Amino acid sequence: MVAGGFALLQLTNPARTNPPVVSDLLAMDAPPPRVAAMLHAACYDCHSSETRWPWYSHIAPMSWLIAGDVKTGREHLNLSAWPAADPRRAAKLLGRMSDAIASGEMPLAKYTKIHAAARLTESQRKELTDWLDAERNRLEPAAGK
Ligand code: HEC
Repeated sequence: MVAGGFALLQLTNPARTNPPVVSDLLAMDAPPPRVAAMLHAACYDCHSSETRWPWYSHIAPMSWLIAGDVKTGREHLNLSAWPAADPRRAAKLLGRMSDAIASGEMPLAKYTKIHAAARLTESQRKELTDWLDAERNRLEPAAGK
């Protein structure tokens, strides 16, 4: 009975989609390789179209939680749809990324608990925010810091 319920539950799994990459931050703004690698490891699963869906993302109820985070994450910030043609908007997003990393809000703790490669040390956070802030200032000198 319990096993049957679990099997039925699996029929409700949400879709795990990776829509096409439109305009990738790492391709458009080309950070140093170390910064690119950190962003890739710590942010891209939830904030891009290049999500690596783990095996447990195929099993309800984890599937809903993970698909929900990816959907919300992409809505807030989609690094695969980078507004390269709109420097003001790009600068704003870079500022938000820097703030989220500096405050420790991102990457989400529930994610780094499972994904050791996404854990950021203080010096890694600084390396990331230094690049994000510099890039932001380059795109929008008038915005200041
Ligand atoms: C496990 C998924 C996950 C990971 C990994 C992740 N995020 Fe997020 N992020 C979210 C979700 C979900 C939201 C939506 C807001 C919320 O629920 O906290 C969000 C929101 C944001 C926002 C918007 C905040 C705002 O004020 O609008 C920024 C910026 C952000 N994330 C940056 C990052 C950066 C940079 C990284 C990597 C260092 C990262 N995130 C890693 C899931 C994730």
